[in-house]
Amino acid sequence: MKTRIYKANELDNLMVQKDIKTTLQEGGNVVFPTETVYGIGASALSLKGIRGIYSIKGRPGDNPLIMHLDNTDHLEDYVLVEQPYIKKLINEFWPGPLTLVFKKKEVVPSYFTGGLDTVGIRIPANEVARKIIEIAEVPICAPSANISGRPSSTLFKHVIEDFEGKADILVDGGKSEVGLESTVLDVTKEIPVVLRPGMITVEMIKDVVGVGKTQSELQDHETPRAPGMKYKHYAPKAYMTIIEGDIQDVVQYINKKTEELQKCGKSVGVILTTEVSDRFIANHKFTIGSGSQETEIAANLFASLREMDSLNVDYIYSLSFREGKYSEAIMNRLLKAASHQVKTVTK
Ligand code: TXA
Ligand code: MG
Repeated sequence: MKTRIYKANELDNLMVQKDIKTTLQEGGNVVFPTETVYGIGASALSLKGIRGIYSIKGRPGDNPLIMHLDNTDHLEDYVLVEQPYIKKLINEFWPGPLTLVFKKKEVVPSYFTGGLDTVGIRIPANEVARKIIEIAEVPICAPSANISGRPSSTLFKHVIEDFEGKADILVDGGKSEVGLESTVLDVTKEIPVVLRPGMITVEMIKDVVGVGKTQSELQDHETPRAPGMKYKHYAPKAYMTIIEGDIQDVVQYINKKTEELQKCGKSVGVILTTEVSDRFIANHKFTIGSGSQETEIAANLFASLREMDSLNVDYIYSLSFREGKYSEAIMNRLLKAASHQVKTVTK
């Protein structure tokens, strides 16, 4: 397939607009930037389009898609806005990296909700994303633009790696500003529940609504309801371990392992912060950001995993990022990438 590639600034061009609109309305797909990660979009109203993205991604059919809108004008055509706190959340966080899971109305097709009677909706902050939805004149379902199981795409080169020759159109919007997927929040009950952590934290939700829970605070009988969370995600090809402890012990441990492994002809990559970068001896080092800048770490996390893949390293060691307000969102992705392999080192 010949994939068409456009730059974000070409969206004012009428021919480009026409291509995007017809492609989406006729059941094709468009990969586009959002502030969180790139998404692969199809019309919510096109069974053909939705089937196409499940199949290109290799995504399990029971994993529902988020429907993206460019404004709230038609929100209540699609969903029941029942809880009084929802308006407050919308005022505070939309457009932005927050997906709200509502009870859906009949008109919302169940072919992209995994058979659930709910639907996740998000209005992205990224103007290119909203422009594409406006051009399409239909709601756009968009899972993260990565082949299932691979790290989400936060740079256009990731999109090219996964979708050139597979998707109809790719729109280059540069680097994703936030870098982690949206917070998914169930708003069907009296207390909103975070189903997937993100950069809108439960504390920020509590500040606005007064209440809010994370999944770990739910009782056992209250089953988790973000089906996507049960799948293995973000797995780099290498064997990955997160190393925790005092930084001098962590440096010493990783350097010792690196030496041993490199002696056996293995290549080692380390995901680290600016402050400690020159203390590691590994051949492949990825500086994810400053240890004191969680937003930088979040923005570069998926790129660090993809970079390790493209360098074909055999082993990855990563520092841990358990401090700070975004640590839940960051560690959720990092732990999945490492298949929960964590080693705590002491002297
Ligand atoms: O930031 C994002 O959310 C990105 C960009 C492209 O908008 N999209 C994204 O989509 O991350 P995806 O499909 O990779 O992840 C959607 C997550 C999955 O874990 C899915 O199970 C959950 O949201 N989800 C979607 N609809 C849901 C629903 N009705 N109930 C519970 N969880 C839902
Ligand atoms: Mg995803």
